[in-house]
Amino acid sequence: MVMTNFLQERKSVRDFKNKDLTAKDLEQIRNIVDRANTNYKSCGISFNFYQNGQLIYDRLDGKAGYAGVMIKAPHYVAMTVASKEEKDQVRTGYVLEQINTELVNLDLGTCWITVDKVEEAAKQAAFGSEGKGIDYIIAIGYPKRKKLFEPEKHSARLEVREFVFQDDCKTPADPDVLDQLGLFDVFSSVRYAPSHKNAQPWRFVVEDNQVKLYMVMGKEDSRSLVDCGVMMFYFQEMMKNI
Ligand SMILES: Cc1cc2nc3c(=O)[nH]c(=O)nc-3n(C[C@H](O)[C@H](O)[C@H](O)COP(=O)(O)O)c2cc1C
Repeated sequence: MVMTNFLQERKSVRDFKNKDLTAKDLEQIRNIVDRANTNYKSCGISFNFYQNGQLIYDRLDGKAGYAGVMIKAPHYVAMTVASKEEKDQVRTGYVLEQINTELVNLDLGTCWITVDKVEEAAKQAAFGSEGKGIDYIIAIGYPKRKKLFEPEKHSARLEVREFVFQDDCKTPADPDVLDQLGLFDVFSSVRYAPSHKNAQPWRFVVEDNQVKLYMVMGKEDSRSLVDCGVMMFYFQEMMKNI
């Protein structure tokens, strides 16, 4: 699927069928995880697939996710990062979203779950000794089917003029200029990137032949850095096609 369609159609899945994945899907997930482990080992990043989702859910329920709302899924993938510097947060977003897109491309439902503030003991109970380095996990499963006539739920997104600026951080970029640069479609699509609490903290400034990414600072900057990493992944993917 081309990235434009992927982005416009993607959304987090929080309601999963109470059903394990097929052996074929499980094998494909293991392949994705193995490949990622090979590719990112040198950056101090590793991944684990947890087939027994019930155990993870029971140990994190009331503790992980927004206000302790853990998402119940048949399986989870967790990412362990050795270091927690700012660049590691950005890399977390970039790398975990890359894996997330691979999972979604298998026609699976997924959702990021934040576990960065979960106490060590609970993380170790869920993930074993790896637990300490895990800040984000991905819930995986088959999405529950929508009821007939139930409207599609989409989280609101900023308009391009609200997050893309020209020359400074105040002047909204002229859509015609963006169009001439081939960037209007890129920004119209990347705004569908997922972000922590849908905060969409990314801002772009187009300056001559450069596009600079800025971040709105706030109370949850470490999470916003992850969101910026997610954005960098999609921006790069979209730019490959123009
Ligand atoms: C870094 C990050 C952390 C997230 N953490 C959670 C979470 O803990 N619980 C949850 O339900 N969704 C979580 N999400 C999903 C976002 O809430 C979701 O992407 C956003 O609201 C936009 O909705 P959409 O993905 O359906 O387009 C997270 C997303 C990102 C990128």
